[in-house]
Amino acid sequence: MGLNVIMMGPPGAGKGTQAARFARERGLPTISTGDILREGIKEGRPLALAAKAKMDRGELVDDEDVVAIVRERLARPDAAPGFVLDGFPRTVAQARALDRIVEQRGNGPLIVVDIVVPEQELVRRLAGRRICSKCGTNAEPFASDSPGACARCGGELVQRADDDQRVVLERLKVDQRTTRPLVEYYRDRPTFRVVNGAQAPERVAHELDTVIDDAASVGGAVA
Ligand code: AP5
Repeated sequence: MGLNVIMMGPPGAGKGTQAARFARERGLPTISTGDILREGIKEGRPLALAAKAKMDRGELVDDEDVVAIVRERLARPDAAPGFVLDGFPRTVAQARALDRIVEQRGNGPLIVVDIVVPEQELVRRLAGRRICSKCGTNAEPFASDSPGACARCGGELVQRADDDQRVVLERLKVDQRTTRPLVEYYRDRPTFRVVNGAQAPERVAHELDTVIDDAASVGGAVA
């Protein structure tokens, strides 16, 4: 059985941070629809370019487009032992599509972790977030002495386009309206867990590892 993890949570909850760390430690691919779309924009891919205006306004991209991205990505060989999804699904329609894909793979249940953080802290984090202008990664929150350059490639750290305060407020509204109902969709599953994301990253990491391993043992996945 594979280890199939969804990191859920509002913008700024730490999904990307924790997904990348967890996936690295477990040898799994991270699949971030936001990162794939941003990369696509940089590379001039038509689907991503068509999505750009919505992303810039803080709105969601069309379900069929993100489902197609995820379906293609999950079919690649490196996702066979499992995966960590970051930012997908975000609507009930996407969650239903993912259930169908996972059922076809027949490779273990979905483990769903909801990272909970108060809104005031989300706004604070997104206002302060810096990403690398070259490789697009977050300035590493696990490093306490960040020198103002990307820890991976040395690139300049800049603000992400949709971290503008007005757009952040719209993203949080969209999350409340469209993505929070997903908690109800998953809540009754034996592999659904909630984590307190308003702690230091190392403590969130520890709590996440514990609940994912626990859910995997309930769901029959290989942790
Ligand atoms: P996406 O890229 O997925 O952005 P998001 O969900 O808004 O999430 P963020 O990346 O802002 O936050 P995060 O939870 O990953 O937090 P992070 O780890 O970075 O989506 C962008 C856009 O793409 C969407 O608005 C939409 O238009 C489109 N899109 C993407 N997927 C889609 C889908 N499925 N359907 C439709 N449209 C889609 O952390 C944030 C900051 O906090 C960082 O600076 C970090 O260093 C810091 N931090 C992390 N953890 C902690 C901690 N414990 N304590 C203090 N600081 C911390």
